[in-house]
Amino acid sequence: MRIDIITVLPELLESPFSASILKRAIEANLVEVHFHNLRDYTTDNYKSIDDTQFGGGAGMVMMIEPIDKCISKLKAERQYDEVIYMTPDGKTLNQGMANHLSLKENIIILCGHYKGVDQRVRDQFITKEISIGDYVLSGGELGAAVLCDAVIRLIPGVLGNETSALTDSFQDNLLAPPIYTRPRDYKGWEVPELLFSGNHAKIEKWREEQAYQRTKDRRPDLLED
Ligand code: ADE
Repeated sequence: MRIDIITVLPELLESPFSASILKRAIEANLVEVHFHNLRDYTTDNYKSIDDTQFGGGAGMVMMIEPIDKCISKLKAERQYDEVIYMTPDGKTLNQGMANHLSLKENIIILCGHYKGVDQRVRDQFITKEISIGDYVLSGGELGAAVLCDAVIRLIPGVLGNETSALTDSFQDNLLAPPIYTRPRDYKGWEVPELLFSGNHAKIEKWREEQAYQRTKDRRPDLLED
């Protein structure tokens, strides 16, 4: 998979890709991530990427020309499955969307800033608009990092133990069950006895019941789907 991220703040995106699972995925060539600084696609001396709104109103709007130049250059080099725009008015990211995107070959992610982009960018280039939640960030970069993390860890081979992604919360529309490790007894706080029974069928059944109960208590909306 190849991910091209268009941003005015590439430095904000560097650290999430320089550690742990994302770093390993890149080093193992399971994913390529490229950052494109929008200011490199400007034509004026000030490297302007935004301007005031037509019709008046507070806040700057990201201009279409540098974005067009960048996206068109990328599209001339290869085919893209999706051109995603990170925006609070997009569809809220969920596990199903991450699963779907993890199967794609090439995607572009455009990070918005200020009031957002000229509507014509959305009309002409964008195939998916994604929000990471009902709150407003200063820009799309942190959202793009969240999206990339959720997607990249699902690419086959990225997680050491491939089954571990399958038992994550949300994978079956259920939250994950409680988990425990050593010591068995800590200050008198004990691990459920059943987990030492050696009866794998019983343990599995217990985990399923726990996952269901936890979902019912905390996120009943997930059970409605
Ligand atoms: N840009 C600003 N807020 C955002 C959000 N909630 N999700 C994605 N991109 C954003």
